[in-house]
Amino acid sequence: MNTQYQQVYVWSQYLRLFHWINVLTITMLLGFGLIIFNAKTLGVSVDGKILLKTVHVLTGYVFAANLLIRVFMGFFGKGYERWHKTLPFAKGFTKELADFKQQPHKKYKGHNPLGKLMVGALLLSMCIQMISGLVIAGTDIYYPPLGQYFAKSIAVDSSKLDSIKPYSKENVDEQDYQKMRELRKPFITAHVYAFYALLCLIPLHIIGVVISERREKTALVSSMISGYKYLPTKDNLDE
Ligand code: HEM
Repeated sequence: MNTQYQQVYVWSQYLRLFHWINVLTITMLLGFGLIIFNAKTLGVSVDGKILLKTVHVLTGYVFAANLLIRVFMGFFGKGYERWHKTLPFAKGFTKELADFKQQPHKKYKGHNPLGKLMVGALLLSMCIQMISGLVIAGTDIYYPPLGQYFAKSIAVDSSKLDSIKPYSKENVDEQDYQKMRELRKPFITAHVYAFYALLCLIPLHIIGVVISERREKTALVSSMISGYKYLPTKDNLDE
């Protein structure tokens, strides 16, 4: 008997916009990040390094605003924007995972259980990148939201904060500067490790999407563009 299929609207316009802004900004951030990371080997000048960091931080603001709106929508949005349908923490997830192993061709309206685990790992790494990135931007090139606070903490004369510039010692108290450098160390470590995590997770995510597409045959890849999946009208379908 032939299974009847229907087009089902799954990913909202907002969710697709978030996804592709995220792909674009992360690709740019990883690219600029790699150059900054290897600046010495590549022979980048101090001015070049400041320019690269400025572009990296400005792209980071778009990435962070996009991510913060996504976090908000997880609590207040609709359908598959909401956390209980996105993350692997809802009641019954362990059973969902066991069913997934036993029924390889089961079709899912939203994320399959492995998809939820992957999305959780991606979003967690992205949040670590955002928080550590904002602290580093504040302590390195004195950019908002924390730049003014850190500039004040190292200033000899706090009425002349404008004179504090990246890589310059003008109006900078050496001891307070060293204290600030110590404080930022764990944030740099977190930023570097979350960067490595994303470098591994992103290809795995794309491979996972392609494998799920082949197993489930629901037009998963194009659904992140159109919003629609192809699903059977009844049997063998899971949320
Ligand atoms: C830099 C590369 C990428 C990143 C960082 C990324 C990140 C993400 C994130 C965070 C989600 C969860 C969306 C949400 O519910 O908030 C997601 C879902 C999804 N992404 Fe990507 N993505 C990338 C590339 C791609 C590409 C190239 C494709 C298409 C082949 C794709 C297809 C999908 C699909 C179909 C889903 C939902 C299905 C699921 O995994 O359960 N992604 N992605």
